[in-house]
Amino acid sequence: MTPQTTTRIASVVRLNQEGPGKQSLPEWWASEQKQKTPEAAAIMEAAQLLQTSDIPVAFPTETVYGLGADATRSDAVSGIYKAKQRPSDNPLIVHVDSLDMLDRLLNPEATSPHAHEAKTARNTIPLIYEALIAKFWPGPLTILLPNPSGSCLAPQVTSNLTTFGVRMPSSPLARLLIHVADRPLAAPSANASTKPSPTAAEHVFHDLQGRIELILDGGPCGVGVESTVVDGLSDPPSILRPGGVPIEAIRACSGWENVQLGYHDGTFDVKEIPRAPGMKYRHYSPKARVVLFEAGSDVQGIINHIKHDLEDTAVGAHSMGLVRTRTWKRGLQLLPEAEIEKTAKPVTSLINNFVEFTVPVRNSSKEVFDCPLGTDIDDIARGLFAALRAMDEREVDVIYVEGVSDDELLAAAVMNRLRKAAGSTFKV
Ligand code: TXA
Ligand code: MG
Repeated sequence: MTPQTTTRIASVVRLNQEGPGKQSLPEWWASEQKQKTPEAAAIMEAAQLLQTSDIPVAFPTETVYGLGADATRSDAVSGIYKAKQRPSDNPLIVHVDSLDMLDRLLNPEATSPHAHEAKTARNTIPLIYEALIAKFWPGPLTILLPNPSGSCLAPQVTSNLTTFGVRMPSSPLARLLIHVADRPLAAPSANASTKPSPTAAEHVFHDLQGRIELILDGGPCGVGVESTVVDGLSDPPSILRPGGVPIEAIRACSGWENVQLGYHDGTFDVKEIPRAPGMKYRHYSPKARVVLFEAGSDVQGIINHIKHDLEDTAVGAHSMGLVRTRTWKRGLQLLPEAEIEKTAKPVTSLINNFVEFTVPVRNSSKEVFDCPLGTDIDDIARGLFAALRAMDEREVDVIYVEGVSDDELLAAAVMNRLRKAAGSTFKV
């Protein structure tokens, strides 16, 4: 598709950082509006586009950037699929600013002119979600709810399923935008379909430039992986996508002790087809081939594997990336550390200490891009997609990634995304 529109980036970083403090969202918004700040103007414009245009607006959330549209307007929601070139059998998450907004979604007849005739009891959020909502909302948790009869959600949001996924983001900016637009927003991650999710406004611009009009820039996302998707409508309840709320934290909630893992990423076998339709597609993939080494792999075995690849003309790699987490040393001993120290050049990116150097291989040389994500799992999650994107920008042929052990906090989400991005996964 040829670019058709000029895409602008408007900064709302200050608002996203400051948040409402002790004020309610309406009070916060009123004071911003009164001061006529540039950020207020940007929010106003975004809200207006959401209400009137069929072209979606990109906005920050605490997990990743979202590509938002009014969830109640079919044409607007179709605009998301168009901009992303996303298959339309993959349902979208609805974002709300409050439980009140969710209550209105669940009870469409209560707001109709015939409300007084409605004899049926109000639809409420199933009890099973009570503990999760109390603990994790607003935040990176998506729950499935039955789509009520007479639902005002556009059918494209649910891809004709009988349920819809909904979350209340903790990003103050995201909630403010929903409040000002006064609409529930359907929003997938704001990347081109199959690419790594965007964790900065530049990532959205890179993928969707020319296809959308406005990107609200709230700075880099704090969590870095998408929300955890849970299904409490099935018995036992299940996790359909690991994400920003750790599985153990969900298991610790009343009613969720027995939660099943309903996704498949090679860690275990599930016989059924994936229940979250998005999970069956190739995802999060940079252009480069991704080779993932599972945690606990033998470092010497990894080095041998990589050296073998580098010398193999059939593999044909001219440049390679190393994405390191817990144990790999800089450059993985492909060059003595003193040599790296002398020759490494810094690479500008969102990740600190990202460097580039050259290693001699037989009669030629290879470029190595070395990207340390840190050892803390929160830092690893936050930097993961940015690292994959930074490698693509340098046009590396192959990216070797050091996996983390699945069984702690955000690691399940990190490894899930990596396994989906990887062409090959090894334990050596
Ligand atoms: O953190 C996030 O969740 C981000 C930000 C923007 O909020 N959004 C996001 O949306 O990741 P998306 O569209 O990229 O992923 C939505 C996931 C998919 O795996 C989809 O299949 C699943 O949620 N999903 C949505 N509605 C569903 C439903 N009714 N039943 C089962 N799965 C559903
Ligand atoms: Mg996505």
